[in-house]
Amino acid sequence: MKILLLGAPGAGKGTQAQFITAAFGIPQISTGDMLRAAIKAGTPLGLEAKKIMDAGGLVRDDIIIGMVKERIAQPDCQNGFLFDGFPRTLAQAEAMQEAGVLLDAVVEIDVPDAVILERMAGRRVHLPSGRTYHIRHNPPKVEGKDDITGEDLIQRDDDREETVKNRLDVYHKQTAVLIGFYSRLTGSDAPKYIKIDGTQPVESVKAAVLSALGK
Ligand code: AP5
Ligand code: ZN
Repeated sequence: MKILLLGAPGAGKGTQAQFITAAFGIPQISTGDMLRAAIKAGTPLGLEAKKIMDAGGLVRDDIIIGMVKERIAQPDCQNGFLFDGFPRTLAQAEAMQEAGVLLDAVVEIDVPDAVILERMAGRRVHLPSGRTYHIRHNPPKVEGKDDITGEDLIQRDDDREETVKNRLDVYHKQTAVLIGFYSRLTGSDAPKYIKIDGTQPVESVKAAVLSALGK
């Protein structure tokens, strides 16, 4: 099963990704998580990506496409995967089509910008795993600590209000076009297109997503 989670920054892609990967036994491929790991490791890619991410821009298509192609060639991806935050430009989507990567389903999580601004301010993450919490809507069992490892939660550098506004702007200008791109694909190879109201509580969104995917 090859699934794509599409949605604005803060729509809840990472939150829902953990439920989908568990239900289908497929790995999550989050380009954002991969870039944050490169930053933490201090690699040349990480150094370049940090400036772009802190400003809310997009990392170059060729870098991202190369990184994803390498990742999906690994053995754990042979039965499928979940794309989270990729593709996010037309060039990235076209590169996957050209590489013969055919998706089974595209899940769009739809959330208005005003709701997103509130969510980002309260987001806390466990960096090593990518697990995501919200101080009010999805709090950890112990304040400031990851439920599974007990390690510290942090606030992402790109969750400052100005950066979030830039990221939303970039989403509307460069990524939202993919909604049309995928929903217009036809033929037997076309992915199932699923649109979910992402303003509901986490558990309701989870139930809607899994049921639309047949679980
Ligand atoms: P990336 O890490 O992909 O960030 P994003 O797409 O901006 O999305 P987020 O991770 O911010 O949000 P999310 O949808 O996962 O929401 P979450 O579940 O955390 O990318 C970061 C940067 O890397 C980009 O800006 C770019 O620079 C670069 N990059 C990455 N991929 C790239 C690519 N392909 N090409 C070029 N550059 C790339 O939820 C948000 C908050 O809301 C949490 O606190 C959560 O607990 C809460 N929440 C979730 N669901 C609900 C709900 N139903 N009700 C209430 N609260 C909820
Ligand atoms: Zn995310």
